[in-house]
Amino acid sequence: MNVLEFQKVSFRYAGENSDIIDHLNFSVEPGAFHCLIGVSGCGKSTIFRMINGLLKPNQGEILVNGVPIGAQKQYCGYMPQKDLLFPWRTVGENLALPLEIRGGLSKRERRERVEEALRDVGLEGCADKMPAELSGGMRQRAAFARTILTGSDLLLLDEPFSALDFLTRVSMQEWLHQQWRRSGRTILFITHDVEEALFLSTSVLAVTETPIRTLREIPVPLERERSRRDLTRPELIELRESMLDALKRQVRT
Ligand SMILES: Nc1ncnc2c1ncn2[C@@H]1O[C@H](COP(=O)(O)OP(=O)(O)OP(=O)(O)O)[C@@H](O)[C@H]1O
Ligand SMILES: [Mg+2]
Repeated sequence: MNVLEFQKVSFRYAGENSDIIDHLNFSVEPGAFHCLIGVSGCGKSTIFRMINGLLKPNQGEILVNGVPIGAQKQYCGYMPQKDLLFPWRTVGENLALPLEIRGGLSKRERRERVEEALRDVGLEGCADKMPAELSGGMRQRAAFARTILTGSDLLLLDEPFSALDFLTRVSMQEWLHQQWRRSGRTILFITHDVEEALFLSTSVLAVTETPIRTLREIPVPLERERSRRDLTRPELIELRESMLDALKRQVRT
């Protein structure tokens, strides 16, 4: 069964006079890692906000694990493009938030879960720090840990690494890919960085037209186990250039 399915989904922001998503169909298999690429403003974050239930489609249906999202709670973890951590809460209090919302755990149990998640992302002992005391890469990992604590197998990550310097970004990509390989979760990841998309994805989903009617699936010819050096293979360089060309053509029109 598909983890995620869009069935003829259309969306228009209130007050606008045209749809930005138009009868979109696509589906995602369990355990996939798809990067979503497309020019700025084409509607990528809008797609995530619909999956997450923050926005309702005007038409069509979105299913997660075969069930309409309107009938479910806590079916995905969402890391938004901005405002990752609340600056007035400690790192530990930030991470405890999805657990508080879900309820059913004592304060001590929440604390244990949070410490375990921090250990998983290499931030052991950071629970009592404020977000401002962490480096950019550490904050991203904390936000990612909070996303994981939603307990969902479907993760939506909206440009999580775009604000990081190159070296931190590269090491976060490797770290995330390893987390994904270990966990078997399904990840959708928005990026503008074609190399990042190729390194991370099982296949890339490219927006090639607006309004969005289809997502073009571009398989990445790499094993799950991979290294950045694989990106220097001739066929990967060729793929990167053709993806860049396709994106550039859209910017011009
Ligand atoms: N609340 C809103 N009301 C009206 N229009 C909106 C609203 N939010 C976004 N839009 C418009 O919808 C379009 C898609 O926005 P969206 O944020 O989904 O783009 P995006 O593909 O994520 O872009 P970027 O790559 O720059 O993040 C844009 O033209 C944007 O201006
Ligand atoms: Mg966006």
